[in-house]
Amino acid sequence: MQTTTKSTPHVDQPAWKALQAHSEQIRGKHLRELFAEDSSRGERLTAEAEGIFLDYSKNRVTDETLKLLVQLAEQAGLRQRTEAMFTGEKINITENRAVLHVALRAPKSESIVVDGEDVVPEVHKVLEKMSGFADRVRSGEWKGHTGKRIKNVVNIGIGGSDLGPVMAYEALKHYSQRDMTFRFVSNVDGTDFAEAVQDLDAEETLFLVASKTFTTLETMTNAHTAREWALKKLSDEKAVAKHFVAISTNAKEVAKFGIDTENMFGFWDWVGGRYSMDSAIGLSTMIAIGPKGFREMLEGFHAMDVHFRTAPLEKNLPVLLGLLTVWYTEFFDAQTVAILPYEQYLKRFPAYLQQLTMESNGKHVTLDGTKVNYETGPIYWGEPGTNGQHSFYQLIHQGTRLIPCDFIGFAKALNPLGRHHDILMANVFAQAEALAFGKTADQVKAEGTPDWLVPHRVFEGNRPSNTILADTLTPALLGKLVALYEHSVFTQGVIWNVDSFDQWGVELGKVLATKILGELESKDEPKLEHDSSTTNLIKRYRKNK
Ligand code: F6P
Repeated sequence: MQTTTKSTPHVDQPAWKALQAHSEQIRGKHLRELFAEDSSRGERLTAEAEGIFLDYSKNRVTDETLKLLVQLAEQAGLRQRTEAMFTGEKINITENRAVLHVALRAPKSESIVVDGEDVVPEVHKVLEKMSGFADRVRSGEWKGHTGKRIKNVVNIGIGGSDLGPVMAYEALKHYSQRDMTFRFVSNVDGTDFAEAVQDLDAEETLFLVASKTFTTLETMTNAHTAREWALKKLSDEKAVAKHFVAISTNAKEVAKFGIDTENMFGFWDWVGGRYSMDSAIGLSTMIAIGPKGFREMLEGFHAMDVHFRTAPLEKNLPVLLGLLTVWYTEFFDAQTVAILPYEQYLKRFPAYLQQLTMESNGKHVTLDGTKVNYETGPIYWGEPGTNGQHSFYQLIHQGTRLIPCDFIGFAKALNPLGRHHDILMANVFAQAEALAFGKTADQVKAEGTPDWLVPHRVFEGNRPSNTILADTLTPALLGKLVALYEHSVFTQGVIWNVDSFDQWGVELGKVLATKILGELESKDEPKLEHDSSTTNLIKRYRKNK
């Protein structure tokens, strides 16, 4: 067990108890009152770093709340745990691994030692190899087996080996090489592969098989199907070398698949899958936006890392975001956080954050294995605005649940078209305002609404949100935004005293699926040793398939 593991029961910390008492007072307060009491609140409760501006004034907090939340972070050892992460301590205790996604974006001049070895030179070696390859593909120097230029790149991966790449590709499409096509295959549902390649020519297609372990059933199934699909057209085993590259930590399995390890881009066990979009797993991103754009993204990540590591807790963007999430989760029974980017290019950002946050902090025991007696990771979800406004915002405004929201917007549009951007941003500000302040019965009545209709048209308000503003969505900004949430997740995990870097919860389903697969495919009637529901479903499927 690591020295940094704090096993003090979470709820015994003095700041926790103080927050509990304090939350009783705050619960009765409306944001209308909080704003009325302090005319400078909207300017004061803000923080800015690295071109990201956070307005957290529309949260149900006072200066006292923030002071206590910061104390909670201190008592939970956030600073020490942060240092432990940045210096390569094995803080992922259940897997005995360091957690060093921050090393993936460390400048060459830095040194981070794991098991006696400086990992930074290795990181840069892989980045250089990726850059050379990406340049060759982008320029057409890297040719397919029949001498044709590669026009299509298909990333095959799942979870962290898919969500980061697809999110980053969509987010940075504006900067991408437009004469190339990028596709992402993740689902083992054959439709995903079939649709991804249906209009592609194998002679012009490069597959990136992205899997940290290179054993994930979905990815390996898709990779084998891709191989068959490619060889059907190219009819020569040697073609694999020109049309398949691997991104993995597992050279042995890569070689077994038939990919020359020369065509492998490596990373390390200290990179968690959901923290890997800036490792070699980001090769598709690099091919799309070019090595220079990728480096800019890494610089953005690094800038936020430095901010997180060094800025005072009360001015620290990831810390503030993380602590506010803890506040609502623990003391307001909030079960979810809505991520609402008002930027179409960020349409996959909520899905990306789902894995980052929920695989990290969806835990039921503390670091020392004790069952928690408080809530841990909330559910993250969301859609880009303004689309969400016309579907689920109704519940956020007038439903019975408290849903803290993160609005994300930009000062400048990447595709300025007439009034579009002003309309878009007017909606960001309007939604946050409406959620916080609502509309009272008196205001509704004053509009001439008949009495019977008044309750239906009342907006109670007092619904919290953060507004995150930046100038433009660039590769660097994307890096900062992702790192902002990575470190917010870390902050939450430290407070909850959980291992944010393992994912044992995905194992049971995998094991059972392997067993059931055998039963579905068996020629003979299998002996089914399941509960009656599972047995019945398997029988029905076998009969009808
Ligand atoms: O099933 C969960 C998981 O292990 C994720 O944590 C990971 O991102 C994903 O599967 C894919 O794993 P791999 O990159 O090893 O194929």
